[in-house]
Parts: sequence; C-alpha cells; structure tokens
Amino acid sequence: MDRILTGSAISSDTEKKARLQSALKAALEAGSIMRDLYEKPHQIQMKGEIDLVTEVDLASEALILAILREDFPEIPILAEESAGLNIDDTDRTIWIIDPLDGTTNFAHGLPFFCVSIALYEERQPVLGVIYCPILDELFYTYKGEGAWLNGKKLAVTQTDFLINSLIATGFPYNIHDKIEDVMYQVQTILPKVRDIRRCGAAAIDLAYLACGRFDGLWEMDLKPWDTAAGILLVEEAGGRISDFTGKPFSPFFDEILASNGILHDKLLPFFK
Ligand code: IPD
Ligand code: CA
Ligand code: CA
Repeated sequence: MDRILTGSAISSDTEKKARLQSALKAALEAGSIMRDLYEKPHQIQMKGEIDLVTEVDLASEALILAILREDFPEIPILAEESAGLNIDDTDRTIWIIDPLDGTTNFAHGLPFFCVSIALYEERQPVLGVIYCPILDELFYTYKGEGAWLNGKKLAVTQTDFLINSLIATGFPYNIHDKIEDVMYQVQTILPKVRDIRRCGAAAIDLAYLACGRFDGLWEMDLKPWDTAAGILLVEEAGGRISDFTGKPFSPFFDEILASNGILHDKLLPFFK
C-alpha cells in the first residue's frame, strides 16, 4: 500500500492521484498473481500458430478490470484478452491494458514479463504503469509529472553515437510472413550499434529505454496495449517516439521507433 501512496504522490491533483492509485493497485495485484503462479504448470491455449495465452493472462486481466471498473465505472477498457471496447471507439477516455506482456517468456519460465496499464484521453496518453513482478520494478508516469521507477525519477540516456548504443527489438507473431523485413532491419542495424536485444516484452523494452538501460528500440506489428503505457514513460523521461517514417507515434499505429531522442535521426534512415 505504501508504494501506491508513494507512486500517486507525484501529483497533487486529486483526480490524477485517484487514477494513478487505482492503476498502481491493479498492476501490483496482477503482478502478485504472476509471481505466485510463475513456477507452476500452466494451462496454455493457442491464439495463433505461435501466439499463446495462459490462465494467468486471463486471471490478471479479470483482476485489473474488476479494480478499474469498481473505481471508475464510467471509463471503458480496451484490454487484450477481452478486447472490451470496439477499437474504433477510442476518442473518448479509455484504459488500455496488457494484462501480461511477455506471455511466451512467462509460459517458458523466463522471468521477463510485466503488466501494463495506460489511460488515454482523446487518443493521447495521460497515465502509464508497468510492473515487472519478478524484479519487483514498478514504473509509473502521469503526463507532465515525469517518469518514475520505484520512487526514482527517470531520464533516457545521453548516448550520441550508434556504435555505443544498445538497441532493443521484437518479432511479431506474424513473423513467418514478415521474416524478410525483420531480417533486413536486423542485418542493417546490428553492424552499426553495440548490440541488439530481443527480450520478449515490448512494454518492458519501452520502460528500459525510459530508465536508460536501452538507447532505442524498434518493432513492427504491435497492438495498442503493447505500447500504450510505455510510450508515455519514454516521453516523460525525455525520449522520442515515432513511426518508421518519423511521424509522431500513436499506439494505434503498428510500427514503432523509439529512442533517447539524440539517436532518432540516426536510426530513421534504416527504415526507409
Ligand atoms: C508480445 C510481446 C513481444 C512482442 C510481441 C507482443 P504478448 O506481447 O510484447 O515482445 O514482440 O509483438 O505481441 O503477447 O506477450 O502480450
Ligand atoms: Ca503484449
Ligand atoms: Ca499480453
């Protein structure tokens, strides 16, 4: 409970505090379910040839929805597993939820996964919470109030040469159709940077860019819940987000290029 109060203290505005408290509570409780069930056998269903869903994705989503609906019954929710809201109806204030980002890691016993909760107003992010339960890292942000990790204010790196940068990426579930594009990107970027990481959770990649562990990231074919919270963390930590052409990014786009800002124009040409 202390962490909820500490996290929500980044704003003195009563409404913002209440929203942040609710999102922090939901993220911490959902993360606790993941931690408890992580090493147990899982019930796995297939959403596609390589796209999994476990009983914990569903339990996490049910818990988050229950908390947010009780606290804010008027705010609709766009959530991955229930797709509770028509995707065309996104101009209003909505929650956007990934109940478990990094499901493949979770199902294989890799500890790199998280819960992601964002609040949007008129298609713009105003609040983001990402919780990584195994490392107990709670990232949170409110628009204009900075980006935070466990009470510490975040800033992106100052890395200014690609050869000194660590860049993250991810592979889409339709990789079999996109293999040439993905391989071209890796082949052209890898020789120019210090290294590339594919850790398996897009939301964590964004949180890690915000806190200075990565200098940039790119990925194609993402869904709104993968990026909704993370992009606000990156912006509030001083980074830049665009699509592959340099246009300002929205989580309703499927291609993302994010960076510490300094490296952005150096990365963009790889996507032309
Ligand atoms: C996936 C992860 C993965 C990314 C995929 C996402 P999920 O989300 O973020 O890193 O490469 O594009 O769909 O299915 O684990 O919530
Ligand atoms: Ca996801
Ligand atoms: Ca998910």
